[in-house]
Amino acid sequence: MVEITRIHAIEILDSRGNPTLLTKVVLSDESVGEAKVPSGASTGIHEAVELRDGGKRFGGKGVTRAVKNVNTTIAEAMISVNPLSQKAVDEALLGLDSSKGKGELGANAILSVSMATAAAAAKHLQMELFEYLRTKVLDRPVRYLQPVPMSNVINGGAHAGNELAIQEFMILPIGMKSFPEALRCVSEVYQTLGKGMIKKYGRMAKHVGDEGGYCGFGLKSTTDAFDAIIRAIEEVGYRPKKDVVLGIDAAASGFFENGKYHIDGEQLDPPELRDFYINLERSYPLSIVEDPFEEESFADFTDYTRRTKIQVITDDLTVSNPQIVKRAIDEKAGNALLLKVNQIGTVSEAIESAKLANSAGWSVVVSHRSGETSDTFISDLSVALSNGQIKTGAPARSDRVEKYNRLLEIYDLLGGECGYPSSEFRIAWRKY
Ligand code: PGA
Ligand code: ZN
Repeated sequence: MVEITRIHAIEILDSRGNPTLLTKVVLSDESVGEAKVPSGASTGIHEAVELRDGGKRFGGKGVTRAVKNVNTTIAEAMISVNPLSQKAVDEALLGLDSSKGKGELGANAILSVSMATAAAAAKHLQMELFEYLRTKVLDRPVRYLQPVPMSNVINGGAHAGNELAIQEFMILPIGMKSFPEALRCVSEVYQTLGKGMIKKYGRMAKHVGDEGGYCGFGLKSTTDAFDAIIRAIEEVGYRPKKDVVLGIDAAASGFFENGKYHIDGEQLDPPELRDFYINLERSYPLSIVEDPFEEESFADFTDYTRRTKIQVITDDLTVSNPQIVKRAIDEKAGNALLLKVNQIGTVSEAIESAKLANSAGWSVVVSHRSGETSDTFISDLSVALSNGQIKTGAPARSDRVEKYNRLLEIYDLLGGECGYPSSEFRIAWRKY
């Protein structure tokens, strides 16, 4: 039987220049799997805990303690674990850290081994990672749906230094027939939007935020950003609503202060913010709102979800944690789950959250973090889950583009034999 023979981590940098882990897992047949761990900026308070060194080095953000934990405690314990059972791998990892948020060994340390072992197992079985996750970990049939890219073309909130309260302005090319066509649409709209912004607001507008979207220089309000995007969609020749719809990640904790939401020069209470979104839905082809309220207001999420027909995604509210996902489902606090593996810390727990969401009729959106690396695990995970949506930034900067390029590669590997969800993106996953 194949065994884990070596686990080795080093400290590398993420897309913001902050330290993170690169971990390699080597099996007895020389199969190697590797993983690089992402990191958020607008993190939910109930997320799993990254272990950082503190002190002066890297402004306290070093991960040498997490690296050491991988190379000693974790490596020693994992030698006897079957790498071909992701359940056994993750149970063993969970058994090493009894703290609530995995902060003892570090969720970053634990996740790196969880992901890298899955990659090594796929290599050993001579499978692509998405195939391995689909058939061996999720135990689902060999039918694949590629995701609609939810591409964040204008950055705001914690990801850019501008006046926009909303963190992410996204386009979804739902009128396309395949993922490659969808990505082309995203790129064309992005390039045209950039030119339009420079023309209107000057060269500062070409700068980008943490996730590669334009920094929003010159834009004063939510509707300014929507108008700029709609203009770009039309200029390229696509039809707003039919070909391309809009989405936002409000990441509302970021503009919540003293019981009020500070947005577009106003201070709104929860029902007023709800009506703000409902008015946007009426004026624009807005199909998605993520984290409409701050991260603990389940009742406000429920109220909005009850009154709207669009997709309400929970991110900071649920932090990919199965227990919290259960609560959100029970309270009907949304209708789709944002899934970030580093919010919870193991592949198995993330998949448990996804399965819970699906069994309640919610779809699952696999997501990057604002601090990323060249790792493309999430592209494979999104195809393995075949839930039809991925959130991985603008088509700019290699930390984002690598994920899209991996999806193009997967399309090719499958010989184009994979679905694209189009306008049915919210329910298409049910056939897979
Ligand atoms: P983060 O942002 O990675 O900075 O948390 C992404 C998101 O809120 O979806
Ligand atoms: Zn979010």
